[in-house]
Formats: sequence, C-alpha cells, structure tokens
Amino acid sequence: MRPFDGRRILLGVTGGIASYKSAWLARLLTQAGARVDVVLTRSAREFIGSITFEALTGRPVHTVLIGDGHALDHLRLVREADLMIVAPATADFLARAAHGHADELLSACLLACEAPVLMVPAMNDRMWANPAVQANVATLRKRGHTMLEPATGPLASPDEGSGPGRMQEPEVIVAHAGRLLEPKGALAGRRVLVTAGPTREPIDPVRYLSNHSTGKMGVALAAAAWRRGAEVAVVHGPLSVALPEGICATAVETTQEMADAVRTELASADVLVMAAAPADFRPAKVAGAKIKKRGKPEPLALDETADILLGTRDARRAGTVVVGFALETDDLVAHARTKLEAKGLQLIVANSAREAGAGFGADTNRVTLIAADGGVEELPLQPKTVVADAILDRVERLLGASAGAA
Ligand code: CTP
Repeated sequence: MRPFDGRRILLGVTGGIASYKSAWLARLLTQAGARVDVVLTRSAREFIGSITFEALTGRPVHTVLIGDGHALDHLRLVREADLMIVAPATADFLARAAHGHADELLSACLLACEAPVLMVPAMNDRMWANPAVQANVATLRKRGHTMLEPATGPLASPDEGSGPGRMQEPEVIVAHAGRLLEPKGALAGRRVLVTAGPTREPIDPVRYLSNHSTGKMGVALAAAAWRRGAEVAVVHGPLSVALPEGICATAVETTQEMADAVRTELASADVLVMAAAPADFRPAKVAGAKIKKRGKPEPLALDETADILLGTRDARRAGTVVVGFALETDDLVAHARTKLEAKGLQLIVANSAREAGAGFGADTNRVTLIAADGGVEELPLQPKTVVADAILDRVERLLGASAGAA
C-alpha cells in the first residue's frame, strides 16, 4: 500500500523557472500512488513541455480552456480531484487567482475547485517581499488555500536570493500534500509534544554517558502527528535521522535540559508522547578539563537524573493525554504497568530490549500497548512508521474520550 493510493491530484504548473522541479514533483506523487492530472499554463509551456509530464504521470496533459472537445474540462478536472496543487505559483498567477480571473484553464479550475488547494509560490526574493504579492497571498490564505512559504536559498539569478523566494523542494510539497489529503481526526488542530532520541551527560569536555537511541520512533511519531493535522513540537537529543517537515524542534543535550524544555512546551500541549530515551544517570562531578590516562582510572561516581515524565505530573493541563514508553529486558507487561501507574500515563508502549528488529536503531518495532483502563494489545513486528500510526489511533480515541468527558 502506497501513501497516495486511490488519491487524485490536479497539479497546476505556471511559468516560472522552478517548473523544472515540478516534473520531479509529478514523479514523486505518481510513485506515491496518486493519479496525477497536470494542467500547464501558456507561460509554463515556454519552460517545460507537456510530453515530460505525460511520460511521468502516464496521463494526458491539459492546456486548453476554450477549444473543440474541451468545453467542460475545467469542471471535470476539479470534480475528480481530491487535492489541487499549484507549483510553482508565480507572482502573476497569485495576482490572477486573488482577483478571480478565469482566462486560462488553470485559473478557471481554481475558481471551480472545492477540494483543498496547496499553492507553492516561487519567484525572485524582492518580488516575494513586495506588498502587492503579500496582499494577494493574504487574500488567498483568507479564502482557505494553503500557502507554502518559499524557502531561502540560491535563485536562478546568481546575485539574488538573500530572502525567501525559492520554491520548496518537491519532497516537502509531497509531505504537505499528504497532510491535506489525510482525513481529519481528533488530532487535527491539537498541540502534540513528542520527545525523541537519547540525551548525553558529560563526563569531561570530550566524553559523555548516553545510550543507543537513534530517535527513529519519536521522529516517526512526530511525522505522523503532523500529517494528521496536529501542531507538533519535538524536544530531541542528538538524532541519527532527519527531522520531519512541519515540526517545531528544540534541540537539547542533557536530561535536565530535556526536562526544562518539556515543562515549557507542556503548558500548551494536548498530548505528550515521551519517546525519548533520556540518560538515567549522570556523573556526580563533571571534570572541567579532559581526564588524562594515568594507568588506572578513578571510579566514576553517578547520580540519577530527573525522571522527566514523573516530573510533569503537576504541570499537565486537565485532559492532556500522556503516553510513555517502557524498554524492558524481562517481565515486559508487569514492569510497563508499574511505570504507567507511577508516572500517571494514559498509555504505555512496551518493547523488549532483547528482540532483534525491535527497539533502538531498528526501522521496525514490536510493541505491546497497555492502557490505563487495563487493555493490553500486542502488535506484530512492523515498521516504526506503522507503529506510530497505531499509537496515534489510540491517542485520538483517548482525546475523543477526554473531550467527551469535559
Ligand atoms: N523517562 C523519563 N525520564 C527519564 C527516563 C525515562 O521521562 N529520566 C521516560 C521515557 O521517555 C519513557 C518512560 O519514562 O517514556 C520509561 O522509560 P524507561 O527507560 O523504560 O524506564 P525508567 O523510568 O527509566 O526506569 P528503568 O530504567 O528503571 O526501567
């Protein structure tokens, strides 16, 4: 099953140099399973040909508003679309869209479109900053279109590009398309705080205590929550994987720093998912200078670090859904249940530190979900992305229940 199987996307391309990236976008959307219908404006065809898109999508490309056999194309195309994307959207297209023009197939489609619309502007940075463009962008936003802010980076002209203007990368556009296509559940519009990765406790300026966590599970959870329409904050230690699109990230080093950041973010969170593996111990003394080899090292005295989850018990808002993890080597369910109760959780995700293909570093995980109401569900070994969705399905149910109870 691919993420966009069964989805129909209308991709409008207007006449900007960034249209060369739209071919890759069409490819990515098609590969993800979507049926992609491409509409090119007259000026887009000065930059890129229909045949490129026809070959990439396996479908005819549309360019004509008024012509024999095309009388109702604009209505048919939007009726059959689950999502409309305009990438790149030039300054001129934004102006015509803001004023409701319908002199080309693409602008006529936009007027008739009832599906969500994702606009991906691309232009020179000074053009983007111009108040006329910004006023058109504000008008289109007010009408409910999702506007992807352009990125800052090299533009076509080598001496330009100190401000935003560059079209977002196709992979980023695909992520936003996924978010708009996702059916809206209880997480839409809610604030979700996820912690991810290990923390590090310094021994001296060059050494630290840590663990094997890579952050994959937390990152998968953050990506899935954002796709479901949540506003997502991630507090993370050093990660071995890239942070997903759309989230607000706070990087920390030690368990105490993670505890402080979690407390700050928790004030506005509806959900906390504590997927991080904070270091449980820290050196009792941090050496100010590198500890030198002298034949036999001094024993390292350790203190326990703060338990972050436990410490949030008095800082949670009423109705906040709190999910913890438990990594165990034995008596999985019994130990996890003790942690669930001690830390005041609605759900705990237990996994075994002994099983190959599960836990730290793996792309897959086998977890048992234990709810505060006593329910125990064993899930099969599956990709962490699928595990993330299974956890969030339970979180949505808990959110629905707490909204019902309020
Ligand atoms: N956790 C936490 N603060 C810590 C350590 C862990 O908030 N200092 C969180 C983890 O993110 C996880 C849950 O508590 O959600 C359980 O973590 P785990 O390492 O399984 O258990 P610990 O509470 O550390 O207990 P133990 O190491 O004795 O098993």
